[in-house]
Amino acid sequence: MKLDDLALSWNAKESLAGKVALVTGASSGIGASIARKLAKRGVHVTVVAHRRERLDELVQELHKEELYEVMAVTADIQNAEEVQHVVNAIINRWGRLDIVVANAGFGYRSTLVDVDLERWEEMYRTNVHGLMLTLRYGLPPMLGQGKGDIIIISSIAGKEVIAGGGPYSATKYGVNALASALRLETLSQGIRVTTIQPGAVATEFSQVAGYSEDEIRAFASNVLPLHPDDVAEVALYALEQPEHVNISELTIMPSRQAQRFK
Ligand SMILES: NC(=O)c1ccc[n+]([C@@H]2O[C@H](COP(=O)([O-])OP(=O)(O)OC[C@H]3O[C@@H](n4cnc5c(N)ncnc54)[C@H](OP(=O)(O)O)[C@@H]3O)[C@@H](O)[C@H]2O)c1
Repeated sequence: MKLDDLALSWNAKESLAGKVALVTGASSGIGASIARKLAKRGVHVTVVAHRRERLDELVQELHKEELYEVMAVTADIQNAEEVQHVVNAIINRWGRLDIVVANAGFGYRSTLVDVDLERWEEMYRTNVHGLMLTLRYGLPPMLGQGKGDIIIISSIAGKEVIAGGGPYSATKYGVNALASALRLETLSQGIRVTTIQPGAVATEFSQVAGYSEDEIRAFASNVLPLHPDDVAEVALYALEQPEHVNISELTIMPSRQAQRFK
């Protein structure tokens, strides 16, 4: 078969301008970076998290740069009605949904014997069930359009397990399983699914996960973690691929980090 027979045309980049995106967990870190970069490419972005004041600050910052089409919705992705409300608000405003960035999540460090079951359940309900809800309500508009992009922020913890990292890894292995199933179920319906697996990124993640300031400082000076913008650039790289290209999985690590916590 010759390439000409396939009538393949190669376009350098897919333009994102005018698309409509939902970014969960955009009140800080990686989600806020992705939202900023999308808005700067002319994407109409809806940012979602609990902390209203953080979301409002981000919207104001982007409005100052005359990027007006940014909407903040406070929601807990553990809650089906709240996630459905977010998607409804997007459809009411723009009539479509082109990009879902499923990023909201957190870590919790604990050995299995010491695990705080409430914290574990909270993490599972955010990282896995929250992703399930984001897909359950975010997908139908995309399937109706016959086109859409889903970026799922997983982790190196979805590929490797360390002592004290079992509960968090269990959620990110679960995230990867859902992403793989989604890819298989929607590949013939115009949906591209990209899983990004970052190593250490300098965000609020480590404090939330229960690491002390001293541990964070020692690890950071040793490893030089990624900036959240590094991960956002990778997300944009996947989204800007020509339509026939899907970056299905991408691992991004600090140059000095070969493995989790090494
Ligand atoms: N930083 C790292 O080293 C690293 C490495 C690999 C993967 N990741 C993954 O990257 C993603 C983003 O984390 P980050 O590093 O950017 O940390 P971060 O700065 O703590 O951001 C986490 C975001 O998720 C939101 N969130 C948490 N629970 C939520 C819920 N139930 N409903 C809605 N929003 C919720 C938080 O906002 P509110 O508190 O306002 O709700 C915040 O905006 C996570 O999935 C994390 O597992 C991080």
